[in-house]
Amino acid sequence: MTIKKLLDISDLSRTDFDTILNNSKTIKENNIEILKNKSIGLIFEKYSTRTRISFHVGIKQLGGHSIDLRFEELNIQRVESFEDTFEIFGCYLDALIFRTSSHDKLINAYNYFKKPLINALSDKSHPCQIISDFYTIKNHFSSLENISISWFGDINNVLYSYFEAAKLYPEIKINVFTDESIYKKKINNFPISHNIRFHFDLDKEIISKSDCIMTDVFTSMNDDDHLAKNKILSKFQINNEIMSITKSNAIFMHCLPANIGSEVTREVLNHPKSVTLIQAHNRLIAQKGILKWLNI
Ligand code: CP
Ligand code: NVA
Repeated sequence: MTIKKLLDISDLSRTDFDTILNNSKTIKENNIEILKNKSIGLIFEKYSTRTRISFHVGIKQLGGHSIDLRFEELNIQRVESFEDTFEIFGCYLDALIFRTSSHDKLINAYNYFKKPLINALSDKSHPCQIISDFYTIKNHFSSLENISISWFGDINNVLYSYFEAAKLYPEIKINVFTDESIYKKKINNFPISHNIRFHFDLDKEIISKSDCIMTDVFTSMNDDDHLAKNKILSKFQINNEIMSITKSNAIFMHCLPANIGSEVTREVLNHPKSVTLIQAHNRLIAQKGILKWLNI
């Protein structure tokens, strides 16, 4: 039997994704002890607030036990290889949650751990965020049917997972507003489907018809071209001017953390249409849906 993993949204079928969304809803209403006597390790090679806390709390609420594993405290610093370390993790742990700077490390970790593994963000993708965002959107609009998303700014790990999800959900549309130079540099490695469109200038008509206005930092934690991107993408900042042309029931979403004054203004984060706090809270609900699907 294949060991379940969530390294990318492409590890899921449409049925799997729907199951996770349904699990999340059910568990939200009634926490169940599905992780009783289970121990799950968390490794964060990069910073994290939401993903780290929501997994720790979610595991506890499901009756399980979580352990923070810090590479700097393990023998991987001294004599043990990465591969041997992950093989040893498998002697004690039932599952692993891993945030890393390199997606290849995740694949290697899965091969040696040989038990369920969840990507808690990599340079390539952030599947847990997108599952949670789909939960937020579905909950807000009661359906994902004909939902139109406008994404502004960088082509990054979060958008990669959105694109993979768009393949599974042809009924949603994604309009990406970005700079042509970034598009040319990144797009070859991205999964494109017919429901995704790119624009290199703002388009008021598309924006005014969008259900979700969405952005993320212009420079991600695994990027190093901070100054260049900030300048190139400044015209795609979400501010009150953009929010003023959105339809009355549109929502603003940001996975957070935000670089206020760069991709978004403080006014927009606090705007009546902003659902960013609900979105952050929903990470906890969706993590539990993912853990149930993983069947640890
Ligand atoms: N959105 C998200 O993954 O946040 P953290 O980096 O704080 O985990
Ligand atoms: N794209 C961002 C997401 C943070 C949750 C990053 O990788 O830094």
